[in-house]
Amino acid sequence: MNQSAASAAEGYVTEIPYVAGYYRDLGPSMHALALQWRGFAAPPIGAPLTCLELGCGYGLSTLVHAATNPQSQFIAADILPEHINTAKSFADAAQLTNLTLLETSFEELLNHPLPPCDVITMHGVWSWINDANRARILEIVAARLKPGGIVALSYNTLPGYASMLPLRELMMRRFRELEGSVTERVKASVVFAQGLKLAEAAFFAHHPLANQRIDDIAGRAARYLAHEYFNADWHAFYHAQVAEALKPLGLSFGGSAQVLDNIDEFNIPKRARLSLEMEDDVTSRETIRDYLMDRQFRFDLFVRDGMKTVDDADRLRGMHFISGTPPQNVDNITGQTILGQVRPDRTRATAVLTALAGGPATIDDMSRHPACVGIPRDKLVDTVVALVGFAAVEPALPPNADDRGLAATQRLNRALWERAEMHEWTRANASPVTGSGVSVSREEQLFLLARARGEDPPTLVVKVLRENEMDVRARYQAFSNGRLPALQKLGIGT
Ligand SMILES: C[S@@+](CC[C@H](N)C(=O)[O-])C[C@H]1O[C@@H](n2cnc3c(N)ncnc32)[C@H](O)[C@@H]1O
Repeated sequence: MNQSAASAAEGYVTEIPYVAGYYRDLGPSMHALALQWRGFAAPPIGAPLTCLELGCGYGLSTLVHAATNPQSQFIAADILPEHINTAKSFADAAQLTNLTLLETSFEELLNHPLPPCDVITMHGVWSWINDANRARILEIVAARLKPGGIVALSYNTLPGYASMLPLRELMMRRFRELEGSVTERVKASVVFAQGLKLAEAAFFAHHPLANQRIDDIAGRAARYLAHEYFNADWHAFYHAQVAEALKPLGLSFGGSAQVLDNIDEFNIPKRARLSLEMEDDVTSRETIRDYLMDRQFRFDLFVRDGMKTVDDADRLRGMHFISGTPPQNVDNITGQTILGQVRPDRTRATAVLTALAGGPATIDDMSRHPACVGIPRDKLVDTVVALVGFAAVEPALPPNADDRGLAATQRLNRALWERAEMHEWTRANASPVTGSGVSVSREEQLFLLARARGEDPPTLVVKVLRENEMDVRARYQAFSNGRLPALQKLGIGT
């Protein structure tokens, strides 16, 4: 990174690269699901789209979505050369022809000849940059997003994150005063803040979130922390502030990309839900929900004027779903929200999983299945969406999807497994069946790599991870009987 590139970052950390994260909420499948469920006629899964990701980091989300959605064009931009060069090496290994990776700042991107986009995404960006860069992003969106297009945008949220502001200030103040490498200064600043907690500073006693978060921070890698907490800019916003910034561009709130967040039943106590009943204004309603849920982070989808709506009775029509969770495992399906541990309606979830046990199906297919008889369509839709939120069901590409995705996905996964052989990097693998990523542990990736090479999988794991051979052989046996067939159903592994 040269000096001018560092100064172009305007205080964003450039000395060390970030961690490699994959987010299904950035992908077309989750946008289609969340928006269609909320009554918008978002493009169906498998539609040809042009998607732009801003501040893509290592670009893993876009790499996975580009490999598995060959019918669409993807562009991803980031200022850090290490991020973009690594992303390019994976794009080359997967021979992706539908992905353009740009090493560029948001300022430079303003003058880059970008095509009209159906979707513009950014994760971990809006809260971590300055006003000038937020204004540039708005300019890019204003100029490039098509009418009816989608913006997916995550940010630190108020009021839930309020007590993180003084904790970040405490660490950042110390970070600025110190000398040494970024890693050293990050570590020392965290130790300093933790020391104040140990010294029984009343701040930590009075702010449970900061009290718990500082211990979590102390256990994290410096490269994650540097990008998360030690940029010159770090902000938290009320939803209304973000909605008001996007309104002049003709954008309005469409839903959360994290589908479970949309469902009041799993997030808001029954009595508190009454306070939403009179709230017709979507911005006020969402802002009040943030108080009811004490929300710390949001992953919003905004839609530009021009997106049509669908009749309630037609929501998710034609969309395919797949599940690797057998109905007998229904009691293992849980999620954690502000209400504590939540779970889907047992009877309806069992019915859906039974209907999906035979392979991908649409809502209409499911309603014809004997297990779902008597369940009204709208309840079936809500149950399927909840199960997606609980990660027990995935939206899937249509059966007639462009099969170029299969070869590209296999090549991308192979490159990811080879990286896993070198060191722990990411759990993301790509599924040509869902069009999204799947979380696969490093050990599982090594099993898959050895199988692809025709080698003995436990031998490779023992060599790379230096684990006890008997234990690894037992785990491989279990993998072969359970996890492997589930991954193969998703088109991952041979
Ligand atoms: C917190 S990271 C998030 C990365 C990725 N989206 C993720 O969620 O894993 C923010 C990213 O924005 C990029 N970034 C920050 N300022 C930028 C700028 N002015 N122009 C382009 N990219 C920038 C950083 O290099 C970094 O990769």
